[in-house]
Amino acid sequence: DQARQIRETLAEFRLSKTQLLEVKKRMKVEIERGLGKNTHKEATVKMLPTFVRSTPDGSENGDFLALDLGGTNFRVLLVKIRSGKRRTVEMHNKIYAIPIEVMQGTGEELFDHIVHCISDFLDYMGMKSARLPLGFTFSFPCHQTSLDAGILVTWTKGFKATDCEGEDVVDLLREAIKRKEEFELDVVAIVNDTVGTMMTCAYEEPTCEVGLIAGTGSNACYMEEMKNIEIVEGNEGRMCVNMEWGAFGDNGCLDDIRTVYDQSVDENSLNEGKQRYEKMCRFLFRGQISETLKTRGIFETKFLSQIESDRLALLQVRAILQQLGLDSTCDDSIIVKEVCGTVSRRAGQICGAGMAAVVDKIRENRGLDHLNITVGVDGTLYKLHPHFGRIFQQTVKDLAPKCNVTFLLSEDGSGKGAALITAVGCRQREMEA
Ligand code: BG6
Ligand code: GLC
Repeated sequence: DQARQIRETLAEFRLSKTQLLEVKKRMKVEIERGLGKNTHKEATVKMLPTFVRSTPDGSENGDFLALDLGGTNFRVLLVKIRSGKRRTVEMHNKIYAIPIEVMQGTGEELFDHIVHCISDFLDYMGMKSARLPLGFTFSFPCHQTSLDAGILVTWTKGFKATDCEGEDVVDLLREAIKRKEEFELDVVAIVNDTVGTMMTCAYEEPTCEVGLIAGTGSNACYMEEMKNIEIVEGNEGRMCVNMEWGAFGDNGCLDDIRTVYDQSVDENSLNEGKQRYEKMCRFLFRGQISETLKTRGIFETKFLSQIESDRLALLQVRAILQQLGLDSTCDDSIIVKEVCGTVSRRAGQICGAGMAAVVDKIRENRGLDHLNITVGVDGTLYKLHPHFGRIFQQTVKDLAPKCNVTFLLSEDGSGKGAALITAVGCRQREMEA
């Protein structure tokens, strides 16, 4: 009967504390593999060095341009940072669309489009002749050898532009700026969104040494001890590591908790076999009832957030289903709400299990019995879903009881953080010159 069928299907999505502790333990194993000299090449969680060696100290100063590419919105920003007794940050930004044919066209088209948007923004601000230093938030895995060099390992999320993987993204941007022959910029830093978010939050709250994104993608970064980052020379101090934890499970280590639904989400994605953990953290439900519902990606995460909103009457759930071509009964709406709740609960829990591994790792690094730490957070799933954040936080608390973790929402995105990193990069350069 139907009730039993639903119960059995959903049971696969319900994870016990033992299972979640197991996820945490496996994340720890993958972290160590990513950091190790002899293991990092094959590691799935890549633990990419970022060359960001400290969080902001308040002395950052100047006017910077920032780009923010890879989340829901593409933004160009002007960030004016003033140090001193009364620190201020002034931001101006404009959102631009990136059409899907540009996301999945050629690399040259993509970067020409980006430069076209920068050009429009500079006109709008009246700053075309300024040759500003620029920080590029580029939210994809990059192998960095310095602050201003990053080779794209692989596209993730909805991007698939050709001739970019294996290339230095900073070069691609510089070349596109040259092709345009309209203005000059000084590209100083390439920054992952997790790192930008951590820095944005750390500017307000110095205990922030971890960044988390739960949105289109899922990923985290944190300040790791230099001596543990075996692929970067030097043993002094710390460096921020972009974990790229979305790829956790790509070696099969989560297969025992993946369901047939996870497999079919994966099979129908642009990057089959990749970013398996990420896909479990931002589950998009796909049934097989109406023709509309069969359309790939039709069940947007925002529907999930709406359906699970406590204030939403079942009648409104039905309205959403109707939009998807489903003629539902009241019972159907109850079922859909339950399915959504179960799936997003699991997303919050496994994401929390990953974070528990990270904060415990930091605690062990510092030889502490107890750690106080702040995590800077951004992303539409975290910000807009009615329960994800709470479940995530509760899971971290349960699985890492020796850590007292505070979560700080980034109100300014990651562009401010990218500008702060750029400020430090400029200063370093002056010192070296
Ligand atoms: C934004 C950050 O606020 O959040 C971006 O500025 C980031 O850098 C984004 O990529 C992530 O959220 P989403 O849900 O848009 O992918
Ligand atoms: C994807 C990207 C990663 C980014 C995350 C959040 O996982 O690979 O670099 O941080 O999405 O946007």
